[in-house]
Amino acid sequence: MKALILSGGTGTRLRPITHTSAKQLVPIANKPILFYGIEAVVAAGITEIGIITGETGPEVRAAVGDGSRFGASVTYIPQEAPLGLAHAVLIARDFLGEDRFVMYLGDNLIRDGITEFVDEFRRLQPDAEILLARVPEPQRFGVAELEDGRVVRLVEKPPVPRSDLALVGVYLFSPAVFHAIERIEPSARGELEITDAIQRMIDDGARVVPHVITGWWKDTGRLEDMLEANRIILDTLAPRVEGLLGEDVRLEGKVVIQTGAQLRNCLVRGPAIIGSGTLIEQSYVGPFTSIYHDCTIRRSEIEHSIVLEGSVIDGVDGKIESSLIGKGCTVRSSPERPRAYRLMLGDQSRVELR
Ligand code: TTP
Repeated sequence: MKALILSGGTGTRLRPITHTSAKQLVPIANKPILFYGIEAVVAAGITEIGIITGETGPEVRAAVGDGSRFGASVTYIPQEAPLGLAHAVLIARDFLGEDRFVMYLGDNLIRDGITEFVDEFRRLQPDAEILLARVPEPQRFGVAELEDGRVVRLVEKPPVPRSDLALVGVYLFSPAVFHAIERIEPSARGELEITDAIQRMIDDGARVVPHVITGWWKDTGRLEDMLEANRIILDTLAPRVEGLLGEDVRLEGKVVIQTGAQLRNCLVRGPAIIGSGTLIEQSYVGPFTSIYHDCTIRRSEIEHSIVLEGSVIDGVDGKIESSLIGKGCTVRSSPERPRAYRLMLGDQSRVELR
């Protein structure tokens, strides 16, 4: 079997982060989301991986490389524009050949991995297998209707969902999917929808097997989803200290201090992770916080947040929380008069003041 991991797309819901970076590379517990997907695929015994890339292709290539450090071989498949999940499958045809494959959306996180589903797919040999999960807001997802344990209908983001079974971002296909994709048209939003392709397979009498999962998973398309994923994954980490602890440092709960991090006069209350080369001084880092590498947090308080590499938070009056701070950002107090908020924000940035 092969794997096709989708790491293109536009990521409109995560702007401004996605104006400059791939959302699949946002670190969750200091590891890019995409890496969890690659690791899950490799753990399921699949080492030939195709990665679909879009505008952020160079950044994705630089992060993943040839795949050898994951024990995999990676082929990059550039997509000219985000023309849909089924379009991504179509352009990967040469790479996939006649193999059965798993398609994994690169911004999805499935805590328990995919080995169970891949094994089931190998055993049952259906034309396709879809993963489903019960969700509170099915209208945000592709929704499946089952009858007697069989999939009868799939609808993309239905205004009035007929079930609460959402499509999880992992699909297993035989090459029969290509024939279905060739016969679908772009949807109203101009994309070749994978739901339409699977529906076409069902209508043609193909065997499409559903698997309802009960473990935790997340499509991390929005800020609140990123923060939730960060909460869940941080909680699974074993505490360890590889960095330098200076005077008056208190670590409470599950805290990971990575190599080369330095802490002085601070309290870190886990679950939390502090990245390599990061300095934390006279500060409080609270639960569910991931500070990536080469950051500085000084005379400030932060919790339930993700801070990307090279950012500085200095002398901020009042706690920062539920925030995603991009790369190389500065949030600091200023002694200048008048005392005022001075902002330089990228397009579609969001600031909520007390
Ligand atoms: P989505 O999250 O559905 O789309 P998006 O990334 O464009 O985000 P938004 O809705 O916020 O604008 O995509 C799911 C995954 O598939 C994600 O990792 C991006 C990837 N993708 C592609 O690689 N090619 C595509 O044509 C599309 C639509 C998505």
